[in-house]
Parts: sequence; C-alpha cells; structure tokens
Amino acid sequence: MTIRSLVSVTALTVGLLGMTGAHAAGDAAAGKIKANTCLGCHAVPSITNAYPTYHVPKVSGQHADYIVAALKGYKDGSRAHKTMHANAASLSDQDMADIGAFFAAGGK
Ligand code: HEC
Repeated sequence: MTIRSLVSVTALTVGLLGMTGAHAAGDAAAGKIKANTCLGCHAVPSITNAYPTYHVPKVSGQHADYIVAALKGYKDGSRAHKTMHANAASLSDQDMADIGAFFAAGGK
C-alpha cells in the first residue's frame, strides 16, 4: 500500500467517524489562528519565499491527514527540513489536527 492510498483510507475513516458524530479530528476555526505563521510562506501567491529563495509547497486544499502526517514527520525528524522542523516542533497533536482542518477546508 502506498503512503497516498494509506492517507486516503485514513481520511475516509475519519470522515465516516465524523458523520457518526464521533470526536471531530480538527477545528478549522482554531486552526486558522494557529496557522497564522504558516501563511507567510504557504500562502504567498508565487509560492516562493523571498530570501533565501526556495519553493514552498501549496498546502491549502490538501487532505488534513496528509498535513498532520507531514507535520509529525517534521517534528520527529523522520522528514528532514530545518525550517519546517522549527515550525512543527512546538505543535501539539491537537494543533496539527486543527491546522490540518483549516487547510483541508481550503484555508490560506
Ligand atoms: C519559512 C517558510 C515556512 C513556514 C513559516 C512554514 N513552512 Fe511549511 N514548508 C516550507 C517549505 C520550504 C516546505 C518544503 C519542505 C520539504 O522540502 O520537505 C514546507 C513543507 C510543508 C508541508 C509539507 C507539504 C507537502 O506537500 O508535503 C506542510 C504540511 C507544511 N509545510 C505545513 C506548514 C505549517 C502548518 C506551518 C505553520 C505551523 C508551516 N508549514 C510553516 C516553508 C515554510
């Protein structure tokens, strides 16, 4: 099973749980506030930050579970990137879920 299909299956499971009224994974409104610092890089129109110039992936519209998985990877170092490690290091699981919900809803 690829990572992507695993993520889709997880997203589907979370979606079904949501429909049955189980605990919601993330709060997009809370995520909007928590994602404020992220937007300086991830929401610029050119998706390229000013200096040093490097490409920043678009996260708006991405699956919430993918965002959470990526942030956990940056936090624990299994995904290596100094800038994103610095951004993810202080996030709790709830913060990640909220931020994931915000971006998954198309927030930017
Ligand atoms: C200083 C610029 C900057 C800031 C601020 C920043 N990011 Fe990033 N982000 C990046 C870059 C550059 C990458 C690509 C890293 C890589 O190559 O793995 C990235 C990667 C990501 C990815 C993985 C995207 C993918 O397609 O795999 C996610 C998710 C993400 N960031 C979320 C966030 C969140 C949430 C925040 C705020 C808590 C944040 N970022 C703050 C620059 C930034």
